[in-house]
Amino acid sequence: MGRQLLLEHIAEPGIETFAVYRKKGGYASVEKALKTMTPDQVTEEVKISGLRGRGGAGFPAGMKWSFLDRKSEKPRYLVCNADESEPGTFKDRYLMEKIPHLLIEGMITGSYALGAKTSYIYIRGEYMYIVGILEKAIDEAYANGFLGKNILGTDYSLDLYVHPGAGAYICGEETALLESLEGKRGNPRLKPPFPAVSGLYASPTVVNNVETIAAVVPIINNGGAEYAKIGIGKSTGTKLISASGHIKKPGVYEIELGVPVEEFIYSDQYCGGMLTNRPLKAVVAGGSSVPILPADLILKTAKGEKRLMTYESLSDGGFVSGSMLGSGGFIVMDDTTCIVRNLWSFARFYHHESCGQCSPCREGTGWMEKVLHRIEHGHGHMGDIDLLVDVAKKIEGNTICPLGDAAAWPVASAIRHFREEFEYHVKYPEKIKNPKHFAIEPFLSEKKLELVN
Ligand SMILES: Cc1cc2nc3c(=O)[nH]c(=O)nc-3n(C[C@H](O)[C@H](O)[C@H](O)COP(=O)(O)O)c2cc1C
Ligand code: SF4
Repeated sequence: MGRQLLLEHIAEPGIETFAVYRKKGGYASVEKALKTMTPDQVTEEVKISGLRGRGGAGFPAGMKWSFLDRKSEKPRYLVCNADESEPGTFKDRYLMEKIPHLLIEGMITGSYALGAKTSYIYIRGEYMYIVGILEKAIDEAYANGFLGKNILGTDYSLDLYVHPGAGAYICGEETALLESLEGKRGNPRLKPPFPAVSGLYASPTVVNNVETIAAVVPIINNGGAEYAKIGIGKSTGTKLISASGHIKKPGVYEIELGVPVEEFIYSDQYCGGMLTNRPLKAVVAGGSSVPILPADLILKTAKGEKRLMTYESLSDGGFVSGSMLGSGGFIVMDDTTCIVRNLWSFARFYHHESCGQCSPCREGTGWMEKVLHRIEHGHGHMGDIDLLVDVAKKIEGNTICPLGDAAAWPVASAIRHFREEFEYHVKYPEKIKNPKHFAIEPFLSEKKLELVN
């Protein structure tokens, strides 16, 4: 296991309490920042660290902070995105549940850097039990002088609130989140203006993911340059990966960016190999919104290089032969997985979660679900496969927010890499009507089937 910056003390009994967290060095970044650094110096350290947003897009956090309109006379806000609704992603839940003070500490240090006097943690409605955990931790932070008026006797004051949503995937999109936080329906806004200029209550706002904000703590404690030494190239630091699917040890792992994908899947330090030692078929590396990659392309790039767990390596080959690190939701599938059924399940999700503002997304996600349903249930036509590609192309890039792209990319990539499996469904409906075809028997492509016969 590499360096643990976020989860180092996770197994410590009582780490969710202020007393134990503090004993383990907690809140040192707040003391250091407020007593020895200016807000700009804190921002500068985050820039130097090379930290990239851990919510999915990987935008450099320090750069985002420096875009904040500091000349505006309006209040500034730091909003933590704890919506975590991306299928396959459960890392923020783990962090907030087990070590809530790490997030609170990051929120205080980050809010100081941005000059925010009021900050929010927006959390998905399904994580209601974590609201209680966070509120307890916030109460402890107030009681110990780390929140409220004149923190640690300095001029800096901050109030921090937890705001639960009602449970909608779209409220993870930052502008929909801000609408929801303002008490409105969570519809994404047209950009520009970006939140850094006009965000919460039309005021300068930074929205960051839970893990991004937590990473500010080790960055300030150890210095941005130290953080930047971990990782490879523009993928610095550590990353939480939530691993699930056909692996021996599903769970949340903190990796140093740069670990080879093969090591991550097969080593005992991480996933421990395939669940029943069946062959690896495919991986969705960064949550359901990123392109799926077949075994050969997830382990090695099209150029034959070892694929690494970095932003750059996972996207090598673009959307033809690459994918994305995304939110770090790493879903592993063995050869018993039916790609069509898997895709139909994702398509149902996106159709259900589309907010309906733009026609390509509202209508397109519905059509993709319908067509995938009929292919999976033995009523498909050969033309349906290209129809799916066509619908996906018409959504991509033509919508207000990236949910449309998120719905389109998995479809386009699954057909690119597993077309013969879609054709098999159309050609042999009687075989796929066997309810076991996707779960128990390994899926046999037509080519392999002929060999077996
Ligand atoms: C449909 C949709 C859902 C999203 N859900 C989340 C989420 O649950 N958590 C998150 O941090 N970012 C989510 N994002 C990304 C946010 O819009 C935003 O980029 C992110 O919160 C910025 O934080 P970061 O820079 O620290 O990653 C989502 C984006 C889209 C389009
Ligand atoms: S892309 Fe979809 S979810 Fe995003 S604004 Fe348009 S309709 Fe809503």
